[in-house]
Amino acid sequence: MNDEELLEKAQAVLKQNDRHKWTVPAGDLYPHQWLWDSCFIAIGLRHLNIERAQTELRSLLCGQWSNGMLPNMIFSSENEHRQHRELWRSYISPYAPHKVATSGITQPPLLAEAAVCIGQKLKLPERRTWYRQIYPGLLRYHEWLYADRDPHGEGLIILIHPYESGLDNSPPWISELRKHNFPWWIGLIEKLHLDGVASLVRRDTRHVPPEQRMSNVEAIAYWAAIHRLRRKAYNSEAILPRSLFLLEDLAFNCILIRANVHLQTIAKDIGHTIPENLLQKMQRSKLALEQLWDESTSQYYSRSFVGHKLITEPTIATLLPLYAGNISKERAEQLIKLLRDKKKFALKWPIPSVPQTSSFFNPFKYWQGPTWINTNWLIIDGLKRYGFNKEAEELRSKSLELVANSGMYEYFNPLTGQPSGASNFSWTAALTIDLIKS
Ligand code: GLC
Repeated sequence: MNDEELLEKAQAVLKQNDRHKWTVPAGDLYPHQWLWDSCFIAIGLRHLNIERAQTELRSLLCGQWSNGMLPNMIFSSENEHRQHRELWRSYISPYAPHKVATSGITQPPLLAEAAVCIGQKLKLPERRTWYRQIYPGLLRYHEWLYADRDPHGEGLIILIHPYESGLDNSPPWISELRKHNFPWWIGLIEKLHLDGVASLVRRDTRHVPPEQRMSNVEAIAYWAAIHRLRRKAYNSEAILPRSLFLLEDLAFNCILIRANVHLQTIAKDIGHTIPENLLQKMQRSKLALEQLWDESTSQYYSRSFVGHKLITEPTIATLLPLYAGNISKERAEQLIKLLRDKKKFALKWPIPSVPQTSSFFNPFKYWQGPTWINTNWLIIDGLKRYGFNKEAEELRSKSLELVANSGMYEYFNPLTGQPSGASNFSWTAALTIDLIKS
């Protein structure tokens, strides 16, 4: 398939998933608007219709809470999705917007990246107009992240639910779940093999084979964790001192470090001075990333907030400090070694969401092995900024070849390229367009 044909296919997926002002990740499986999905989608859409790409991001701001939080989901108002809105009940928080129903947690802060990607396609006067529209909400979001999720000023944002990481069942979260967050009744359900009842209510396994998703027991535990947050009305002051299931997530914090740079670019372009207190916090994040480095294995990891211990499970996040962009060249070289290692990340269809040497590795299972196009996109960007142009180009062409062979799927088996998860997946389509055009 040549680039033109691939572009046409990608465009058709975005058209099919377009809901006028926003785009669903995949029609059947994901019928709402998701935060980082819409950012990736806008990055692709900017090549087709820049105004539509801007609308995609503006509609994310319609879901912003009055305290600044951007929720990971803004729910479709259709009647058939009432049970999703009711699971979260965002209306119980005084900060939630009145006009739309949302979740009560956030997702990786990619909005600044998407806004700047759009800005790059605009001439200066239009770019300034665009940045002036997006900046106030974006600034409030970054301020909220630090105020609410870094109360001790350590520079690392604390996540309160695995869905906030965007890498839902990634090994550090599952290992913490098993250690600290397994209520006795879930243990009992597992022991008595009663977890099958979950499949009666699970939506994902109606659309995707169960072996490609998280287990029923994990899904029940994640659902219970939502209930605990809901009982506290999503108020971090009530949640952080009591929960054990809190992570300083590596991927999220790398994305934030990069987003802070973009926020500064936007502020500069419109002649705005970022408040000094936020600048200091942003600076602290850059330094704090080194606290996630483990000398004995020469890798970065997520850290459990409560025990302040690194969770030494390597994942795709291991490579994301390249995207953060503030690590030394020497550290970057160490990450490249992992990327080139045929036993770890250099599989036939890279980059797997966990290295093949991990005990979690399963080529079919969601964020525990399959290759995803969004993380490839982030790593390609990081590779280029560190001057690893050959590696960046190889990964770009492999990603395009994978999508051309296997289709616009949600994720792919890194050993065989077999497509998995949802078909006609929006960010795969959008980033395919971007990888061809950029
Ligand atoms: C899954 C992914 C998450 C994504 C969502 C919608 O939950 O893990 O990252 O945002 O689907 O595509």
